[in-house]
Amino acid sequence: MNTPKTVSESDKIGPLAGRSVVAARVFDRLGIEYCCSGDRTIGEAAKQRGLAVDLLIAELLAESELGDPATDWAGAPLAELTRHIVAAYHRPLEAELPRLVALAERVLAAHQHHDGKRLRRVRDIVVELSEELLRNMAKEERVLFPMIERGALEALGAPIRCIRSEHEEAGAALARLRTLTEDYRAPEGACATWKALWGGLERFDVDLRRHVHLENNILFPRTADPSEALSIE
Ligand SMILES: [Fe+2]
Ligand SMILES: [Fe+2]
Repeated sequence: MNTPKTVSESDKIGPLAGRSVVAARVFDRLGIEYCCSGDRTIGEAAKQRGLAVDLLIAELLAESELGDPATDWAGAPLAELTRHIVAAYHRPLEAELPRLVALAERVLAAHQHHDGKRLRRVRDIVVELSEELLRNMAKEERVLFPMIERGALEALGAPIRCIRSEHEEAGAALARLRTLTEDYRAPEGACATWKALWGGLERFDVDLRRHVHLENNILFPRTADPSEALSIE
């Protein structure tokens, strides 16, 4: 849904960023402005940034769904699962959170006169979630995952309870975001930045639910299974 299927040199960057979160993310990363000068084609934007147009198109097409649903995480070694969570969810989220915060600030600044109350609440939730998730991932990576990787499974009760309650708080914040954004449906006539924010939040929502599902429903229950202590790498 969010990945551009085909992209050509003559596509305009504003409409592309509006309909594809992946494209907006690539443009943000490469410093290609698509809000006020979205009328440029991909070819023109690449030239102005001094980028090879083929490379820009390849980047736009390269991003694919995170994770690998075909992998059997119920059976893979625990240390492989923790490494997968870090690589597929933590690292991308660390890069994505500041981008979402910046987009939320920009949309609020540009539209506070007609939808300020809602956009301020969206910005506040995004800022708060970003801080909470960065803390949550740091705890997992510094404390919990190393314990799991070492096979110190009997001492995990308290840290896992703490992490689970943080996941619940994040889930409640996501639910508030979905209500506020009307399931990420951008209002009629929304600008490209607004659409990029709503689209980015929708993707963030999907990724975070997959991420927490892997931890809460697969990783944590497996650490309580006595047979796992014998199968640590
Ligand atoms: Fe987590
Ligand atoms: Fe995590």
